[in-house]
Amino acid sequence: MTDETKRANEPAAIGIGLLGMGVVGSGVARVLFEKGGLLAGIVGRPLSLKGVLLRDPGKTRSFDVPADLITTDVQAIIDNPDVDIVVEAMGGQDPALDYIVRSIELGKHLATANKEVMARHGPDILALAREKGVHVLFEASVAGGTPIIAPLLRDLLANDVIAIHAIINGTTNYILTKMDQEGVDFEVALREAQDLGYAEADPADDVEGTDAAYKLAILSTLAFRTRVSDADVHREGITRLRARDFLYARELGYTVKLMAIARKMDASIQARVHPVFVPAEQLIAKVDGVLNAVEIETDLAGRVLFHGRGAGALPTSSALVADIVDISRNIVGNVTPLRSFKLDKGVAVAPMAELETKYYLRLSVADRPGVLAQIARILGDLGISIDSVIQKAKDEVARQAELVLMTQSAKEASMQQALQMLQDLEAVVEIGNMVRVEDLD
Ligand code: NAP
Ligand code: HSE
Repeated sequence: MTDETKRANEPAAIGIGLLGMGVVGSGVARVLFEKGGLLAGIVGRPLSLKGVLLRDPGKTRSFDVPADLITTDVQAIIDNPDVDIVVEAMGGQDPALDYIVRSIELGKHLATANKEVMARHGPDILALAREKGVHVLFEASVAGGTPIIAPLLRDLLANDVIAIHAIINGTTNYILTKMDQEGVDFEVALREAQDLGYAEADPADDVEGTDAAYKLAILSTLAFRTRVSDADVHREGITRLRARDFLYARELGYTVKLMAIARKMDASIQARVHPVFVPAEQLIAKVDGVLNAVEIETDLAGRVLFHGRGAGALPTSSALVADIVDISRNIVGNVTPLRSFKLDKGVAVAPMAELETKYYLRLSVADRPGVLAQIARILGDLGISIDSVIQKAKDEVARQAELVLMTQSAKEASMQQALQMLQDLEAVVEIGNMVRVEDLD
């Protein structure tokens, strides 16, 4: 057989266009090249990288692709008839959303790791994809290499979801673990997380809880079959946490985590991201470093826990490449995209003020008689019962003491009012921190 005949008999490749080759895109390119044989075997046709969009082709990268594949012109990828699947690994909303929409309109299938775009525009993108008859998958947008979207959409689809408790930001979990277990400074731990490729292009998205809010919005939309955007999610980051909070948490039998929590209420859902004290013996308290964990509580399956690497080049490429393979198999098998699921727009996200939980309070106060009684009166008048009080770290010179209070379950609205009133109390020098407590039982 001549080379020409051999080539004519080879199955046509599935063409991939990659938008972005930073941490995640480089991982995807590496896997496509290094595992090309395995992937072709699974799909039944080779996968071939047809183009890579970059901003700055001169940058040094962790993986090099042939120079003729690189372009700074998005049209060269999305207009290329040989590109069947566009893989978006650029991040951010602008211009990624525009490129995604244009790709779908041109009939390209899409795999994306972009949680910001999927949290804000996911339902519209899926509706457009359905209209255009293309597949859109986004497993990498939540929990990196840990499968969660496919299980929610497939394995758990007969369930009604009751609650989601999740650690879904690898960077903050890495920072909190380093601060807690090794006493490493916040800034140093953040730099390490950036060097390891875990952080967002703007790490404020990680440490302020924005990234986790995007991911919770995506999970809540799928789990509760209602449209939840990141703007609906109450969001607090980790920047107010101090070494003393970790110390006191441990003394009280807790670990500090940034958690994303969603819960079905009677006629609404709760959706919130903030630091929490979780009992140290709970499984989720032991999820350390870049690891993520998502616990889905459902009516049929009970509690199901997904646990694994939540960020980094290779774990995230694992999810993106799986989506590419899935789409490729659908192309080969001529599978029509699934009907987009119905979103019941009637379910609203409840205001944070309606939350009821226990609280940890750390206050710097004047060290003199009667101060604790004043604080207890403010809390008591608002219906907040104190569970325990510990007086810490006396400063004899400044005549100040630190009070650590744990409350019983109370309304968030009352706690916010109490914080206002404590702030105005002359004897309170500073409200060091307030952290919500999740007993998770
Ligand atoms: P990154 O390292 O900053 O890479 C972004 C890539 O996109 C770079 O190659 C950049 O080009 C390119 N790019 C950005 N804007 C562009 C534009 N306007 N035109 C052309 N190219 C542009 O980001 P990343 O960490 O790989 O993250 C990519 C996406 O994956 C984000 O949505 C992120 O949230 C998500 N994600 C990341 C992780 C992770 O562990 N890092 C995990 C899961 C999901 P240059 O290199 O030339 O600047
Ligand atoms: N910056 C994100 C994180 C990347 O740290 O979890 C994974 O989505």
